[in-house]
Amino acid sequence: MAQHDTAFQQCINPDCSATYSVDQTLLACAKCQSLLDIRYDWNKLPVPKSLSFFEHRWSTKGSEAEGRADFSGVWRFRELLPFYRDEAEIVTIGEGRTVLQQADLLARHLGMKPGKLMLQYEGLNPSGSFKDNGMTAAFTHARMVGAHKVACASTGNTSASLAMFASLAEMRGIVFIGSGKISFGKLSQALDYGALTLQINGDFDDCLRRIREVALDKKNGIYLMNSVNPFRLEGQKSIMYRILEASDWESPDWVIVPGGNLGNCSAFGKAFSELRELGLIKKIPRLAVINAAGANTLDHLYRARNIRWKDGRFDAAAVQQLYAAMDESHYKAHTIASAIEISRPVNLPKALRALAAMNGETRQVTDEEIMEHRAMVARWGFGCEPASAASVAGLHQLLSEKVISLDDKVVCILTGHELKDPNATVQYHIGDGPRGALSNRPVPVEDNLDAIISAMGK
Ligand code: F0G
Repeated sequence: MAQHDTAFQQCINPDCSATYSVDQTLLACAKCQSLLDIRYDWNKLPVPKSLSFFEHRWSTKGSEAEGRADFSGVWRFRELLPFYRDEAEIVTIGEGRTVLQQADLLARHLGMKPGKLMLQYEGLNPSGSFKDNGMTAAFTHARMVGAHKVACASTGNTSASLAMFASLAEMRGIVFIGSGKISFGKLSQALDYGALTLQINGDFDDCLRRIREVALDKKNGIYLMNSVNPFRLEGQKSIMYRILEASDWESPDWVIVPGGNLGNCSAFGKAFSELRELGLIKKIPRLAVINAAGANTLDHLYRARNIRWKDGRFDAAAVQQLYAAMDESHYKAHTIASAIEISRPVNLPKALRALAAMNGETRQVTDEEIMEHRAMVARWGFGCEPASAASVAGLHQLLSEKVISLDDKVVCILTGHELKDPNATVQYHIGDGPRGALSNRPVPVEDNLDAIISAMGK
């Protein structure tokens, strides 16, 4: 059981560092508006001496609170996210039971040796994306603070996951989505799970701004589920624990992840920083965060403008300047990878911190590269949605630049399931545009046995 007084919220701005109880629901630091972290007084907590402690939970399950927590790929690591009071409070549906695949066929096509490329399939979560890792944690907190109405802005996956958890936790789910910006797989989930779905005439950035305004006014009684909610990121740390677990607790050389609102990469940085602080790992892998070229804020700031974390004193004025210039030119993010079509990533400061902690790199990849690598993951793996393949396209780029060497062991995070966006897939195979290298058109054939046999070829 977690000790309630050993977890607290803390502002990430080193010149503020204000702390708050985990019983509070905040959108940002009340003093300086910076992002908040969940922090723990590890000395007073029962942290395992070795990561192998967690292995015994594979053999337990059951309907009691502890068994259900053990069954979850998030909560079986609960000593590493002990913000809850009691196991009975945990809202879980068996999320996070995902697969790390040794992707030798794909590796061969990228010029890598067998055993060097691993794909972490977070699309195998119950709602089909990595968001379930975060939602289970944020819903646990929502239940702790007695929330009834939960809401998010979303490019699709967050809304699907929120809608599913809200229904199961018997809370009212409300999602804001950009008009015409969401793939049908994701929209169908939000509708099916019964969330109130508001299609705002704008894009994700507009939706997020609006939902924060709504949540800020306490009388609306909204609990915000976007990744500015630091409890979400506590759950998403578990993606890294599972990668270590599937690798006999050895860190890879690189972790590569697509970047949108930058919650995931922030959670990864926090996971590894904490594991190191606790003496549970020796090596921190390097991180690569991959933007779509049409939504490249992080890569632009990190490489073109050289913005660095600097122990929390990063050049916030330069970021504001960029956003002001975007406003002035009416810039809107645009990419076929709709999940990461975001120009003002709210977790930017935490992402800079993660890049510093993990000696990180950023890159951007074009829509063509995303779709070509998505098709490669499908042909030589189990498939993923377009945004997820940015990680593999980014790997390809970093290999050709020799930033990643052929001897490095690399894990690409595949964030969403292939069936989230079948339109993009079908368009790749039979659309009017230029044919991709792996385009596989259906062959029309008469209802005639000879014609059918002849069409099947030799
Ligand atoms: N990949 C997929 C499939 C996503 O849905 C998202 C984010 C990302 C990557 C980026 O992750 O925001 O942590 O950097 N989707 C959000 C949503 C924004 O609303 O579903 P991030």
